[in-house]
Amino acid sequence: MAVGIFDSGLGGLTVLEAVQKRLPEVPFVYLADSAHAPYGVRTPEDIHTLTRAAVARLWEEGCDLVILACNTASAAALRRIQEGGLPEGKRVLGVFVPLIEALTERDWGDNSPPREVAVKHVALFATPATVASRAFQRELAFRAIGVDVEAQACAGVVDAIEEGDMILAEALVRSHVEALKRKMPAPDAAVLGCTHYPLMESVFQEALGPGVKVFSQAGLVAESLADYLARHPDMLGVGQEPKFLTTGDAAQVSDRATAFLRRKIAFEAA
Ligand code: DGL
Repeated sequence: MAVGIFDSGLGGLTVLEAVQKRLPEVPFVYLADSAHAPYGVRTPEDIHTLTRAAVARLWEEGCDLVILACNTASAAALRRIQEGGLPEGKRVLGVFVPLIEALTERDWGDNSPPREVAVKHVALFATPATVASRAFQRELAFRAIGVDVEAQACAGVVDAIEEGDMILAEALVRSHVEALKRKMPAPDAAVLGCTHYPLMESVFQEALGPGVKVFSQAGLVAESLADYLARHPDMLGVGQEPKFLTTGDAAQVSDRATAFLRRKIAFEAA
């Protein structure tokens, strides 16, 4: 009954934590494509090829449902993977839609026409590839009208987190928030559109100020996954064993993951 969780690296662990807490009976197989991280500076073609391979690897583990716990893969590859046709009984879901549904005050899966919502000025923080894709703005336009989005491509933040250099990550976050504020001085909401960024959420909140509501994905994805599995219980795959897989150096990735989650995490080679 395993479900696959995929990220380019460690960021998806923020999603994994939340889904494990929400669905303790479900075994999750986590795959980090650490050998190819970061994805955010790659071309859409490259991201698509890497994401497809990762999804296929998780299917091999007996996961019928794979969550792309990576905005960059969701933005650059998900639609193409879905439109390319999936093998019978397999599904791939991204992390954008639950976030946008929360931002636009919708129930999960509410596909009614776009309408006015409370937030008017939204700051989007994401990787360069996610910002370039404009996928966030496209999904938002399906659900809301009159929302002004200013996007900040946060170059370097994922690399610093993957390297475990949190001092550099913090300095970069502060400078990206300053750059955003020069373009949009008073956002009323901010979206952390990369699953690595919740590891820096307090820095984003402090730099943005207390008046800005920060939307982060982990809890939202967990709620929407619980709702999806309640409606599609057949999507629990045959895999039984929770696992952490990486395409990178398993010992190094395990150490960083253990430090981030403050519990022992043991990755094995994918
Ligand atoms: N966690 C990924 C995301 O949500 C990071 C992408 C990257 O590897 O640059 O976008």
